[in-house]
Amino acid sequence: MRKLIVCAAAIVLACGQIAAAGAEKFFDPAALTTVGVYYYPEHWDPSQWERDLKQISDMGFEFVHYAEFAWAQLEPEEGVYDFEWLDRAVELADKHGLKVIMCTSTATPPVWLVRKHPDILLTREDGVIVDHGSRQHPSVSNEFYREYSMKMITRLAEHYGSDSRIMGWQLDNEPRPFVDYGPDAQKRFREWLQRRYGSIEALNKAWGTAFWSQVYSDFSQINIPMLSQQFMNTHQILDYGRFNTEETVSFLDEQTRVIRRHITGDQWVTTNLIPDYNNGHLRQIRELDFHSYTRYMVFGENYGVGRKGYRLGPVERIAKANDFFRTIDGVYGVMELQPGQVNWGRINPQPLPGAVRLWLWHVFAGGSSFTCTYRYRQPIYGTELYHYGIVGPDGVTPTPGGLEFKTFIEEIALLRRNADPGAAAPAEFESRRTAILYNHENEWEMQRNRQTTEWNTEEHIDKYYGALKSYGAPVDFIDEGDEFSAYNVVVAPAYEMVDRELIDRWTAYVEQGGNLVLSCRTGHKTRNGQLFEAPYGYPVWDLIGADIDFYDLPMPGDPGEVEFEGRRYPWTSWGEILTPRGATEVWATYQGDFYDGRPAVTHTRRGKGTVTFIGADSHGGQLEKAVLQQLYGRLGIELLDLPAGVNIEYRDGFGIAVNYGDRTHRLPVDGKEFIIGGAEIPVAGISVWKQ
Ligand code: GAL
Repeated sequence: MRKLIVCAAAIVLACGQIAAAGAEKFFDPAALTTVGVYYYPEHWDPSQWERDLKQISDMGFEFVHYAEFAWAQLEPEEGVYDFEWLDRAVELADKHGLKVIMCTSTATPPVWLVRKHPDILLTREDGVIVDHGSRQHPSVSNEFYREYSMKMITRLAEHYGSDSRIMGWQLDNEPRPFVDYGPDAQKRFREWLQRRYGSIEALNKAWGTAFWSQVYSDFSQINIPMLSQQFMNTHQILDYGRFNTEETVSFLDEQTRVIRRHITGDQWVTTNLIPDYNNGHLRQIRELDFHSYTRYMVFGENYGVGRKGYRLGPVERIAKANDFFRTIDGVYGVMELQPGQVNWGRINPQPLPGAVRLWLWHVFAGGSSFTCTYRYRQPIYGTELYHYGIVGPDGVTPTPGGLEFKTFIEEIALLRRNADPGAAAPAEFESRRTAILYNHENEWEMQRNRQTTEWNTEEHIDKYYGALKSYGAPVDFIDEGDEFSAYNVVVAPAYEMVDRELIDRWTAYVEQGGNLVLSCRTGHKTRNGQLFEAPYGYPVWDLIGADIDFYDLPMPGDPGEVEFEGRRYPWTSWGEILTPRGATEVWATYQGDFYDGRPAVTHTRRGKGTVTFIGADSHGGQLEKAVLQQLYGRLGIELLDLPAGVNIEYRDGFGIAVNYGDRTHRLPVDGKEFIIGGAEIPVAGISVWKQ
């Protein structure tokens, strides 16, 4: 459930503790965290269940995760439910001291349902209707799919809703908007547009249909936009993204409401979301008690630090998911954390020994309440052959990752004996706490209208995020529903679509003492993705104390340069050329093109606060990093200078460092009592000290 989240301390602004959340009540603070594993009893001979559950418990796991894809076993025929096998699996879990997360299994409707109502299947853009035999093939826009899902969930919740062995619920599996061109989706899109715009004239205006003769005279004429068709109306595509997000959200919210009718107050409801930040539903599923994420780190991409970085992944990957999900409800869990080699990458390397433990610690460091992993036994049939589990294909021998889970669980037991649950982090750490204001719709809009192949919205944001983490700053990803005044510094990178209300809120934040950092592309468009009837970025000119004269996009082979404090920073992807007004300071200038010497970065005071505008997107984010350093220096906020791959976080009275780098580093931690590791942190190492 949505709530306001604020930071723990701030230098300039008065700042309260985190608003009462609600979801904290589900987790024992003294336990710090709890670790579990997916087990699919329906995949194995029942004679092996007890052996497996006993070993799960012996390895230290505290819960199991059941029934995620088991609709066909739970309702083998329409209206005929079979919970007997699951009851037995729950009983055995309980016998071995394991709690259970129960799942709704809507990602895999049974074949009887698909054949009876074939229109529940998704229709692709090319007109092909997908078929039974995989997963995630139904459309959330189909009324039968929704109806049958809710019937099945009702029965499951009636059966397990007051069972104290069930700790909580996971909805569906990695739910996300799927594109569907079927008749139900078309109909619901038109109805959604009608509700949104009221009249066809209003829609025509919002979509700019005077352009290219696109004008509609009735909602019934509108279709879901063909996403691969060249030059398709960009405003129509933006609205389709909004609609499709809401389709997913309303399906999940409906599931939660059905479950809530039958469960006791001790059971929570969440789902396992992929941290694809450009997916709007990540924050919008309002009924959940809290949000959880899934994370895979090594699959032949995501090169981290150095030549072997692909065996660890980049340090930002878990850090950012922690900082994004924690801020939604104050509580988060990780439902799937890679246990070892996977099967679905283009290339599937082995993780570095120690990587799984490193990731577990990193998830924990961000403040998570639990970590679970997909899956206990490696599958020996089905689509995910070669995917590692906690034990290998023989069903009993722990994998290296399985043993690292065991080590982590033992280490947490050690921490539980030394913890100060809920302790505030050191004031010096909190003084650096920074918010990044993020709205996925800006990313949709800019990625579709990049203007240069050099532009990448997520990479642009990550330049700021990576710099902040390297300075040892705790970061909260916030959205417009959150309170800005809780933070000394709010960074809103490339915040393209704005309205008067947002600009007024930014202005009030700054006037009351906040420090706002804005970057190129901010304020160019209305919420419909249209340009303002004004010069580029005009709505923010007053706020930034500068005019934006034009923007440039050099050719990749001919990078521009920005000079800041005597250093030159190359850039190609976006540069806004500024004219400062009044007392606005020029911090950096463009060099060597027809706008040589013109301002690229400005800084202005307004009321009790400041606005820094960074007009260029530099290669590797080095300019952004240097500008942030100057800003924090002015504000008297002391920064760390952590080596590549190292992050430091605090929770429950502990400092925790992780090293995804390619060499041993010395941590800037003196005179502290280390509980695990020490001031020297090796590759894939972790260090934990009492704060
Ligand atoms: C996840 C998915 C799991 C499993 C896993 C394999 O994305 O949620 O069900 O398929 O990938 O790595």
